[in-house]
Amino acid sequence: MRIAFFDSGMGGLTVLHAAVEQQPQHQYVYFADTLNAPYGGKPAAEVRDLTSRACDFIATQAPDALVVACNTATAVCIEVLRQRYPFPVIGMEPAVKLALAQTEAQRVLVMATSLTLQESKLSQLLQRFDTRRRTDKLAMDRLVSFAEQQQFDTDAVRAYVQAQLQHYDCSQYAAVVLGCTHFAYFTPLLRTCFPADVQFVDGSQGTVRHLFDTLKSQAKKQDKTKDILYFVSKQSADSQAFTPYFERLASIDKAYLNTYDNA
Ligand code: DGL
Repeated sequence: MRIAFFDSGMGGLTVLHAAVEQQPQHQYVYFADTLNAPYGGKPAAEVRDLTSRACDFIATQAPDALVVACNTATAVCIEVLRQRYPFPVIGMEPAVKLALAQTEAQRVLVMATSLTLQESKLSQLLQRFDTRRRTDKLAMDRLVSFAEQQQFDTDAVRAYVQAQLQHYDCSQYAAVVLGCTHFAYFTPLLRTCFPADVQFVDGSQGTVRHLFDTLKSQAKKQDKTKDILYFVSKQSADSQAFTPYFERLASIDKAYLNTYDNA
C-alpha cells in the first residue's frame, strides 16, 4: 500500500516514525510544507487553503490513505479534506481523552499551537470529556520553529520553555498532552520541568493504530516497493534532510519509555 503523511513541516515525522516501526512493508509518502511552516500562528482560512493545496498535490501521488499528521490542519479543515478525496483521511487531535482517562482527579496540561487551542474542535472535545474541568491550555508555537531549525535543546529553547511555563504550577499536573506533532522532539527537555511521574501523552500511536485498522480491508492489496518518498512543498526532497529527525526520535523513544515504565 501507499500511505501519505502530511504536515506543515517535520512534526509529522514523529507519526510516520511510529507507522514505519509498526508496518515497514508499505510505501510511504511524506509531504512537509516547510515553505509555509509554521501554520500555528496563521489565520484559519490561510491554513485551510495551504492544507488543501498541499493535499491536492498529495492526491496526485495516488495514496491508499492520507494521514494529516498535524493537529493544527486537522482542527481547521479535516472535514473538508474528507469530502474532497476518494481515499480515507485520518486526522490528529490532542490526546485529551487518553490523558484524562489515565489520570484520576489531577490536572492535565494541553500543549498545542495557538490555532489548535482556539479552534472549536478542541473546545468540543473538552466539553465532551473534561466534565470536571481538569485541563489547562498552553500555546507553545515557537517550538515548531525550533524543531524546523533542528534546535531541540539549546539555551534559546530552554529559555522559551521556561518563560512559557513561568505562570503555571507544574507540580499540579499528572499528565501533559503533546497536542502538536512537533512537540515530541522536546520530550526530554519538557520532562525536566515537571515532576518525574508526569505522563507525556501524544497521539502518534493511537493515530497509527487507527490508520492500520482503517486499511485492514485492503491489507491483501499488493504492496508497492517498500520505501519512503519525501516532498518539501511539492518538490521532491532528499531523504538525508530528514535523517537528523529520525535519529532524534530513536534516541527519545528510549528515554520516553524508560521514564514511562518507572511512572
Ligand atoms: N505539526 C503541526 C501540529 O501538529 C505544527 C503546526 C505548525 O506548523 O505550527 O499542529
